[in-house]
Amino acid sequence: MASRSQLASIVGSATLRRGGNAVDAAVAVGFALAVTHPSAGNLGGGGFMVIRMADGTIAANDHREKAPTGATREMYQDADGEVVRGLSTASHLAVGVPGTVDGLLSALEKYGTMSRREVVQPAINIARRGFVLSRDLAESLASVHAKFAKYPASAKQFANKDGTPYEPGDVFRQGDLGATLERIRRDGRAGFYEGKTANLIVAEMQRGGGLISAADLAEYHSVWREPIVGSYRGHEIVSMPPPSSGGVLLVQMLNMLEAYDLGAMGFGSADAIHHVIEAERRAYADRAEHMGDPDFYPVPVAMLIDKSYARQRFLDFDPERASQSSDIGAGAIPPAESPDTTHVSVIDQDGNAVAYTTTLNLSYGSKIVAQGTGFLLNNEMDDFSSKDNTPNAYGLIGREANAIQPGKRMLSSMTPTLVVKDGEILLATGSPGGSTIITTTMQVIMNVIDHGMSVSDAVGRPRFHHQWQPDRVIFEALGFSPDTLAVLQTRGHVNQVRARFGLGDANSVMRTKEGFRGMADPRNEGGAIGVNSMGTR
Ligand code: GLY
Repeated sequence: MASRSQLASIVGSATLRRGGNAVDAAVAVGFALAVTHPSAGNLGGGGFMVIRMADGTIAANDHREKAPTGATREMYQDADGEVVRGLSTASHLAVGVPGTVDGLLSALEKYGTMSRREVVQPAINIARRGFVLSRDLAESLASVHAKFAKYPASAKQFANKDGTPYEPGDVFRQGDLGATLERIRRDGRAGFYEGKTANLIVAEMQRGGGLISAADLAEYHSVWREPIVGSYRGHEIVSMPPPSSGGVLLVQMLNMLEAYDLGAMGFGSADAIHHVIEAERRAYADRAEHMGDPDFYPVPVAMLIDKSYARQRFLDFDPERASQSSDIGAGAIPPAESPDTTHVSVIDQDGNAVAYTTTLNLSYGSKIVAQGTGFLLNNEMDDFSSKDNTPNAYGLIGREANAIQPGKRMLSSMTPTLVVKDGEILLATGSPGGSTIITTTMQVIMNVIDHGMSVSDAVGRPRFHHQWQPDRVIFEALGFSPDTLAVLQTRGHVNQVRARFGLGDANSVMRTKEGFRGMADPRNEGGAIGVNSMGTR
């Protein structure tokens, strides 16, 4: 198994060793990440879990956050209809009704084999006893120290008693979080959505002018949905349906590219990159227009993942010239902070597989700890379209399909994906990275299928990203040769940007002739642990 946190991966592999299946392990890791990886692991956020059992059963759990009942379409606009900067990312109004706890417990109940106690207890132990802060995590906490300082419970949770930031090597204990996890262990979903935890969340909302009510929490339920299923060069692709755009766009782009021999063009060649960019441009344009919560908007999924639609959509593709993205929407606001979601892949010895992506949205979400709970609240409301054609923190635009409505789930890009070959699981993958999640996941899959790479190469190789608007290509720094970038310039890809962060963090597990191999993305700290695993740091 592979995740962003070595300690969480130890929890997952110990769960497998004790006889748990991949779902037990993914759920145990989900709870552990809330303790060990607070920028994205969470109880106060949401996520998606795609499951394939060894007998071929597939399922997708949607535990995306929902807009509170009091939410309105214009809630982030001022009297002149202008979007008020920061309201959907850095205020109590930014918080959607959390889904993670219901989703993890629902997955455990339906496909797991272990008791709630067995999968929650490791997270409680780590929260109560503490763990030694790595340089990476201490520096990450220090980088948001000033933002936490605005909220007393956040400042208390993530700094020393005297208010100074933690140092690498300090032991980080989280007593309030341990107590919240104990309520979940004892009472299940009621330990979060009712009683003390729910009261503390509502009190936090009332203190800061947020909208989530006791009824919003009590009524929250995750949803089991039919996964998106597509095919690519003889492989089956199983991924997340709306309200994620991830699975649909992934299959749509792979459909457009299937007609071209990317393997012969070569990894990193200007030719291959040009083809992929043009598929990305068209698919992300469709995302802006067509995609939102299917419970509120008729998302044309069947059309978007149809192979003949993809062929039509690519008819205007010019192998020699970049297309122009149309001019809709405002200019891009680059994210002011790293997009921070996190992805876990698990395959057990029987071939049961889980791809699980979870998030608070931006790094550490709203930065608001609900006082007394020990966990951070998300700022997922920013994934709605606050106003038609106005970019969110990822520069993504949207319209009616993703407009705010009470009880609606905001559109996501999370793409937990399983690749199946000849009836057997081949690859579990996915990534964080906001709008770059889908293109990262696709590149890992193409690296395996088109370029014949091992999982370590497929995950480690440099990546690029285009999302239609803004009309620019983002390249990982030093990842591509100057000659390649120059050729792309001559083809019209003139707006080239160096990524400020590594693109994605695609912790993956793959079947090989020698057994399953895990790879923790070398762009960040993390751990791949288990039989035949690689990349443990
Ligand atoms: N918050 C990032 C996403 O769900 O796409």
